[in-house]
Parts: sequence; C-alpha cells; structure tokens
Amino acid sequence: MKKKVIAIDGPAGAGKSTVAQRVAAKLGYTYIDTGAMYRAAAWKVLQENSMDALTDEVILQTVKDIDVRLQYINKVTKVFVDGVEVSDQLRTPAVSRVVSQVARLGSVRKKMVLLQRKMAQNGAIVMDGRDIASYVLPTADVKVFLTASVEERAKRRFAQMVKKGYKVDLAELKEEITARDKADKERTISPLVKTEDAVLLDTTFMSADEATEKILSLVLK
Ligand code: DC
Repeated sequence: MKKKVIAIDGPAGAGKSTVAQRVAAKLGYTYIDTGAMYRAAAWKVLQENSMDALTDEVILQTVKDIDVRLQYINKVTKVFVDGVEVSDQLRTPAVSRVVSQVARLGSVRKKMVLLQRKMAQNGAIVMDGRDIASYVLPTADVKVFLTASVEERAKRRFAQMVKKGYKVDLAELKEEITARDKADKERTISPLVKTEDAVLLDTTFMSADEATEKILSLVLK
C-alpha cells in the first residue's frame, strides 16, 4: 500500500495524540506531535525569562535560533531543544499557559512548519496539530478533525495530569482549555479550523480505540 500522509487536527485535549499514536503504531508509521514542537519553544521561553516579562519581542528574541528536534523511536517521541532532551517537561501547567502566546507568532510558526514538512516528505506519517490539514500538509491523503465537548476534554486532561502527579483543579483546567481554544481559533496566522475535506470525529462518547478504528478504516478505504 502507498505510504500515506495522515493529518489529525483538533482542539486541546480531544485525544489527538493518543489516537494518532495508535494509528501510527498499527500502520508502522511515524508519529509527529506538532504541539510538542510549540511546547518546546514555550519551554525555552520560560527557561530564559520570567512569566510576567513575556512580550512578543522577548519571545522572538529567545527562540530566534532555537533548534527543535523530534525523535520517534520504539513508539516514543523524544523532544530536544538545543540538544537537550525536554520531553518530560513539556506538559507542565506553566508551559500550557504560555504556549498559545508563543504559537501565534509568525516567525515561530514558519520555523516549525518547515521542519514539519521536511519530516513528512517521505510519507508514512501521522501528524497531529491545529493547522496540519489546512496549512502544513494540505495534500494529506486522510484528514481528520478530532473533537469532543469541552467538559469531556477537561476531564481527560485532569485524569492525565493527576496520573502524572500534578495537583490540578478541574474547573481551572476547563477554563484554561477554553481560553486556549479561543486563542488557537482566533489567531491570525493558521488558526485552528476544520477544512471542508476533513472528516469530523466527535469523541465525546467514543473510546480512543473506536476513534483509532474509524481512522484506520478511512486510511484503508
Ligand atoms: O496539542 P497541544 O495541546 O500539545 O498543543 C500545544 C499548543 O500548540 C496549542 O495551544 C496550540 C499550538 N499548536 C499550534 O498552534 N499548531 C499546531 N500545529 C500544534 C499546536
């Protein structure tokens, strides 16, 4: 079978990474988590600046020469910033709070998109994010827009964070996710959008396995 390119977009906490990883594993494809790349930039911004000093100029100056690399080996994604592995530090509440501010900047996106297209050029790839179908890989073979109600997404994130040992508040998480959705949908450059040719998958009442099967059936069609 032709090595396909699969684009999965959707809002925060819709289960994209879980489902995308399962689809990639079933097909023997590489999985690219583009959110992790923007998180890596946000991580560097927080390492080098205090949270209350974050202007666009400060962010741009900090990430001007950033080197972000993704490694997908044995079904695990490792993320490196300037040669240092930061994979375990990208899902902290602090990074989640500033990542939209970093991801809305054109020159940050330009850098990441170049890298994303390069990683996809040989196919056999599942890439998830916000603008994969609409901008990064508009000729993808399969395009899926994965979503779920904000309540369900907050509950899933809550369970994930608790499992990782973070003390989080469900209502606060819901607010943070709502704010991030709004920022991601309303930004000028490459906003979160469902393209006309993408298949809508609402996973509010669907397990990750069911969503995976649905996507696999689209790929094998
Ligand atoms: O999927 P995630 O929650 O890890 O994404 C983190 C942030 O990165 C999200 O708020 C929006 C941004 N993002 C983006 O702008 N474009 C992408 N392709 C992927 C993520």
